[in-house]
Amino acid sequence: MRIQFPENLTWGAATAAFQIEGAPDVDGKVPSIWDRFTARPGRVQDGSDAGIACDHYRRYAEDLDLMATLGLGAYRFSISWPRVMSGPDARVNRRGLDFYDRLVDGLLERGIRPFATLYHWDLPWFEEQRGGWESRATAWRFADYAEVVARRLGDRVKHWVTVNEPLTVVAAGYVSGDHAPGRRNPLMAFRVAHHLLLAHGAALQRLRALVPNARVGAALNLFPVIPRRRGDVRIAERIDALANRLFADPILTGRYPNPVRRLLSVFNWTLRPGDLDLIGQPVDFVGVNHYSRIIIERSRLPWLGFRLARSPDPNAVHTDMDWEIYPRSFLDTLTWLRERYDNPPVYVTENGAAFADRVEADGSVQDAARRDYLEAYLFMLRKALDAGSDIRGYFVWSLLDNFEWALGLSKRFGLVHVDYDTLKRTPKSSAYWYASVCRTGGFDL
Ligand code: NOJ
Repeated sequence: MRIQFPENLTWGAATAAFQIEGAPDVDGKVPSIWDRFTARPGRVQDGSDAGIACDHYRRYAEDLDLMATLGLGAYRFSISWPRVMSGPDARVNRRGLDFYDRLVDGLLERGIRPFATLYHWDLPWFEEQRGGWESRATAWRFADYAEVVARRLGDRVKHWVTVNEPLTVVAAGYVSGDHAPGRRNPLMAFRVAHHLLLAHGAALQRLRALVPNARVGAALNLFPVIPRRRGDVRIAERIDALANRLFADPILTGRYPNPVRRLLSVFNWTLRPGDLDLIGQPVDFVGVNHYSRIIIERSRLPWLGFRLARSPDPNAVHTDMDWEIYPRSFLDTLTWLRERYDNPPVYVTENGAAFADRVEADGSVQDAARRDYLEAYLFMLRKALDAGSDIRGYFVWSLLDNFEWALGLSKRFGLVHVDYDTLKRTPKSSAYWYASVCRTGGFDL
């Protein structure tokens, strides 16, 4: 069976600065919260750090050629705020900006459309020291940084993602403490969420003002929240509101969902007149990062009252992240977005899977499991298009194996294998398959 997609659908792959670049102190880059966090013993599961990662900062030309070989139509990368702004006095680091300038030119020379993410979690340490996302002022300084980047790249970069997965920043950075800055303070989490949303709105406004024909959105991690048992329905609804709708509602409707509004009034914090207008300005697209569903059950855990449960399906297969492979959740998420928010334009800004890939004796990497995963999820993307979803593009996470945050270098999401000793890149068998998807706009199932 042939699965064919509309001709104008954009095919790409995605990465993020901290996860691939390395070169943490080269050309005037200052430390980020993640440089500091990963230096603390015990924070990264396999003991690795991102000091070299894929060495992309130095090897970007080779990586551009790889993208061209794969026939990517677009490349989503992130810009490192601590490369661009070098200190609290708003000093711009020209050499840091130069890197992204070269990257963008290299993409355009190869006919690859750049999608730039402005915040993929690497807050400058100097910003953290003045309050980080707990401080409202950080949102405006993010907008200033966005302005610097827009002035330099806006003539060539038209597609912009303001913030990536604000939910993960909040949940892992301020509730579980597994990510930088490593706090465990659920009350602060709502303040941080609001400031990230303000940052999105403020940056969006600057991009609109400075970049002709800008296309701007935020990348949200969205997923169905499934109750484990009948008695878990209410808690699942609540978690859906505090996870998916916490960000999607204010951005797409200019309102917080009910449970959040109640929490806001109880804790009487940072919401000011005009905030929701700024946050709810029209976006040009929603970026959807999607991997799996989550299963929820009630628990007596303090504060949260829920925990994640295993899949009810005894035959469920999981990726190396222990995430259930459940393609149907992709369709459900896209359907939910279409129905709840009046069919906004969507770019799937991340979808993919980690597996324990290794190089065979003949030098190849055979990752049939990744191809199976991508085929099954793309089949659901086709179904969503058939049902009328306005899907504009799709990006595999990730182009390269890279530094998976608190899990370090041990989780391999790449279409391209990276040997962390030699830094050699080897396209996996899934990369050759994906190249044919990019070339022909479909695949045979
Ligand atoms: C979410 C994040 O945006 C990205 O940085 C991460 O590596 C992938 N998804 C996989 O966890």
